[in-house]
Amino acid sequence: MAQHHQKVVLIGDGAVGSSYAFALMHQGLAEELVIVDVDKERTVGDALDLEDASAWTYNKLVKSGDYSDAKDADLVVITAGAPQKPGETRLDLVDKNLKIMQSIITPLMESGFDGIIVVAANPVDILTTAAQRFSGLPKNRVFGSGTSLDTARLRVKLGQKFGVSPESVNAYILGEHGDSEFANFDEATIGGRPLKDWAADQNISDDDLEDILYGTAHKAYEIINRKGATFYGIGTSLARITRAIFRDEKVVLPVGAHLDGQYGLNDIYIGTPAVIGADGVESVIETTLSEAELERFHASAKTLKEVSDGGFA
Ligand code: LAC
Repeated sequence: MAQHHQKVVLIGDGAVGSSYAFALMHQGLAEELVIVDVDKERTVGDALDLEDASAWTYNKLVKSGDYSDAKDADLVVITAGAPQKPGETRLDLVDKNLKIMQSIITPLMESGFDGIIVVAANPVDILTTAAQRFSGLPKNRVFGSGTSLDTARLRVKLGQKFGVSPESVNAYILGEHGDSEFANFDEATIGGRPLKDWAADQNISDDDLEDILYGTAHKAYEIINRKGATFYGIGTSLARITRAIFRDEKVVLPVGAHLDGQYGLNDIYIGTPAVIGADGVESVIETTLSEAELERFHASAKTLKEVSDGGFA
């Protein structure tokens, strides 16, 4: 049976979008990539540049396009939006990026698109909510990069601390992709052994773990203050999510998923582990949390609700 021609439309060809496109090409994750941006010339230039790479990669089709190309697309990845500047929080971007999201979803849905939307523009949890409300697509087929990048950052740091691969660190960042995020240190494990026991072996205290969480939650600022933006980490996280969808992996990833009662929360997009496959968010995992962690989850949700209710509810 012929392999289905997997097509991605990338909306937003800034540093994040371009990094995602590069990762997509190198990992051979789709047969076709169409790049859309208000700066049309840039998309033509990026497509021509990526075309050169296609000689050595799996993707054979990469081109500049427009919303009409989304009609038969399987996946739309939205990175378009003003990025954080030094000193700005992600929530500071909400007003201007909500307007951009509306300007994207309207023509996207007019194209007849009926696939999966993954949002990465910030504040990603709020903009994912907007993308779902504006598009009317099912909530499992609109989700955000959420705390996937934050979890990658945490696992890298803990892996360095304990001398194991990040892939072997079963720990998550949950909640807002932002300053109120937190880690599930009380349940995290490495090799089936509690992370807290690994920490005790190395005289790493709960305060030390909180310092690691602080460093994780503030890593974007460290990068932005030095190079002006972040893009390789998020671009690769988006490629990981794309692989899970296109290969129907049914893998557990921390994404910005819609809650329908999980953790005692309703009608909110927020970072949580979820099973990702061909249908997008195939199920949300209400991961086990300690009382203190559940309180942090609710506090993070409250932060998001205050912004989204004020923004466009
Ligand atoms: C960061 C951006 C993607 O955390 O919000 O690097």
